[in-house]
This record gives sequence, C-alpha cells and structure tokens, in this order.
Amino acid sequence: MQGFSFLRQRSIDKYIADFFCRDLKLIIEVDGCSHGIEKIYIKDNVREKRLNELGYSILRFKDEEVMNDIHNVGLRIENWINGDKIIPQPPSKGDKALTQNSDNFEASEDHLNSDITPILIPANQQLEPKDETSQISLAVRLLMLGNVVAIPTETVYGLAANALNEEAVTDSFKIKNRPFFDPLIVHISDIKEVGKYTTSFSEKAHKLAEAFWPGPLTLILPKSEIISDMVTSGLQFVGLRVPNHPLTLNLLKQLPFPLAAPSANPFGYVSPTTAKHVKEQLGDKVSYILDGGPCEVGLESTIVMFEDEENATILRLGGLSIEAIENCIGKVSLNIASHSKPNSPGQLDKHYATRTPLKLITEIDFNTIDITKTGSITFHAPFVFLPIENQRVLSQNKSTEEAAHNLFAAMRELDNLNLELIITENFPPNGLGPAINDRLNRARG
Ligand code: TXA
Ligand code: MG
Repeated sequence: MQGFSFLRQRSIDKYIADFFCRDLKLIIEVDGCSHGIEKIYIKDNVREKRLNELGYSILRFKDEEVMNDIHNVGLRIENWINGDKIIPQPPSKGDKALTQNSDNFEASEDHLNSDITPILIPANQQLEPKDETSQISLAVRLLMLGNVVAIPTETVYGLAANALNEEAVTDSFKIKNRPFFDPLIVHISDIKEVGKYTTSFSEKAHKLAEAFWPGPLTLILPKSEIISDMVTSGLQFVGLRVPNHPLTLNLLKQLPFPLAAPSANPFGYVSPTTAKHVKEQLGDKVSYILDGGPCEVGLESTIVMFEDEENATILRLGGLSIEAIENCIGKVSLNIASHSKPNSPGQLDKHYATRTPLKLITEIDFNTIDITKTGSITFHAPFVFLPIENQRVLSQNKSTEEAAHNLFAAMRELDNLNLELIITENFPPNGLGPAINDRLNRARG
C-alpha cells in the first residue's frame, strides 16, 4: 500500500470514516463503527448509503480479523487496490485532506471500477459483535471517540459517556431530553478511584463503600477539580458509584476515564432493565447498546449524601435497603420528599411514570372503571376482580428483592396493553418495599 496516504478518522460530509484514502475514495472500517458527528447519531445503513452516493467505497473488517491476522487484512486491501488498477501517487506534503473540513471538501471525480467487489461484511454483523470481548472492545472504542453507549448495570441500564468529556456528557443529557439541572452519577471501576474525584472521603463513607461496592449504592461527596460543572449541574458535590455488572466493570477497567451515566430512559419515564427496553425507546439515538441481560436488582441505586464527614442523608431510596445502610453506619436521615427544585431529581413528583394512569386501590371509585381495561401491579397475589392477563404479581414468594427486580418490566408491559388504568397497592415497609412504594408514588404523580 506504499504511495497511498491513509488518514485516521477523516470526516466526509457529516460522517466520520475510520481509515480514509483520498486517492482511492476508500474507507476502511474496523467493526463497522459509525461515528455520527455534529451530535447526530445515524444508523449504519443511512450512513453507508450517503457515503456511497458521494462515491466512496467501504471495506470492512471485524475486530478479530485485525487482531488475529493483520497480514491477511493488509493483503486483502492490497488486492482490492491492485484490482482497481489505480496508479499510486506519492503522498503530497501535508495532505490537504487533513485540513479540509466537511463544508469545503470537494469530492474528486475518480470513480471506482465497478466490476471489483470489495470485501463487505454486512452491517448487522458489524454492529452486533458475537462474543463479550469484541462487544466490550467496540464499546471501549466508541466511548473513547466521545460517543454515548448504553451499558448494563445491576440496577438499571445507563446511558454512558466519558465523564471527563463535556461534549459527550452534554450528548447524554440531550439524548434522554434531561434538564441540565439534574446531575449525573459518575461510575468508577474500583473504590481506589474515589480519591481522584472527591476532596473528602470520610471514614463513614468509606465504610459504606467497602461494604456495598460494587453494588446499588451512590455516594454524594464533595467534588474535586477534575469533575466539571456539566456533570454535577453546578453543584459542589459529585455522585460516585461502582456498579456491579461483569461487562461494565470490565469496560470501566479498560477505559482511562470514568463514565457519567444517567438511566437510559427518556426523562421522566420508567428506567430500562433490559437492552430491549433501551432499544425500544432510544435505539436510534445511541451508538451502541452493550447487552448484559436483565438487570439483577431492577431499581436504581440508593443515593447517600455526605454533606459533612459525619452526617449521612438518603436522597433516593433504591436497590440497597435502609436497614442495610443503618446496620453498617448507624442512623441516617432521610430527605426523599418531592420538590419542584429537588436536591436529587429522582425526587421529582412525576417521575418513573407510565403513560397509563396509575392509582392506589384505595383511590379507586369502582363505579367509574371499565375492568376489562384495567390492569394491576401487586406484591404476591392478584386482585380477584380483574382479568388475570392484565395483572402482574411481582413476587409470589413475598420477597421485596424479587418484586423490585420485576417492577419496571411489569410497568412497561402493562403500559403496552392500551389499558385505561393500572391499580396498585402498598408494598411492605421493610427491605426494598419503601423504594418500590416510592417509585409507584412518583409514577402516580
Ligand atoms: O442505579 C443507578 O443509579 C443508575 C445506574 C445507571 O447507575 N443511574 C441512575 O441515574 O439512576 P439517574 O441519572 O437516572 O439518576 C441519578 C440521580 C438523579 O436523581 C440525580 O439528581 C442524583 O442521582 N445525583 C447525581 N449527582 C448528584 C449530586 N451531585 N447531588 C445530588 N444528587 C445527585
Ligand atoms: Mg433516571
């Protein structure tokens, strides 16, 4: 391939090519990353069509081909070039393509010989790498390039971006239509990382982290300089958490930065607990969804704030029970009341909501409802007066953990049945019961 100058990540029109050769109008992609710029996330086929219209050819290779047999990859590119019978030109000094931007770039008139078949790997294979290692390396690459990637955690799926890249963080706000006053949790791989992002990691906070990380606990601590106001919405405190999911822990270990990640749902709607939930609502807006199966806990993390070294306040009930926290560090205060300008926007009145109205059984006037169009979410037994197909029982074994695990999926399922009403009941005051009641109350608005 001597004589051709390949440039890494050249922008053409509003798209980015991985390796680009101007003389040949050739793009070489590894694992089919499609990098939308200008904050636009474009499906691969749209991008490919547009690049073809502009006269570019795309040669694609899988990650593992490059890793395992780079010589063969080189040969295949060379064969393609030679078959095209293009005489290589010596690269010009300071190739202009480097300095051209998408507005003034003029596509050259060279056309590729049509009877040469490039080695094309279908886009769907490119976008869904089969094994975990290539899934993670695709996510690593996309995140390093400033893209937003949906990631699994044990609580709910997150919409992850490089926490130290303000543009990427801004994108994650925009994708979920989230107000900028609502700060993001920063996900780290290990308790040892905490010191980089906070100026004070008190003994009590440390004790909690030791006991429950990786796990459904977020600590709000005074932020260090490195964390931008974009992440904390201007607050002097940052939310930190080590999530407990093998894929995401592995991903975090490979990245040189932490991940800011809100839950991967449109703002105000129920959080996603499977990759399918993310795909249904944000699939065309995120560059990749790392599928780690259903979330084990199913409720967002419990948020504990340390305004000073001694006093801990729970700002959001979640996947870690109050009892577990108090057993570890003693009495904590609760500040989970709803506000219109909350400390923690998980405290917003109307949040975690279904489109279908949701009410407590004690609020229902039975003369006014159509029972064929009414569903229910109950703890361990269905209501006798409703059609069974409209009902979701969260835990026949009366386990609040199991109920939490099933809650959001049940809310989504019922929301898709075109019902007029969802009836629910109060869950027990222990374990994850209070967190479930909190989500149901906010869904009621
Ligand atoms: O389990 C979870 O926490 C999930 C997964 C993806 O980690 N994340 C999550 O993120 O639920 P999000 O953005 O949907 O909710 C984060 C909550 C918000 O209510 C936000 O206000 C609060 O955390 N929060 C984040 N940083 C904060 C800060 N510095 N001070 C007060 N609250 C903060
Ligand atoms: Mg959320």
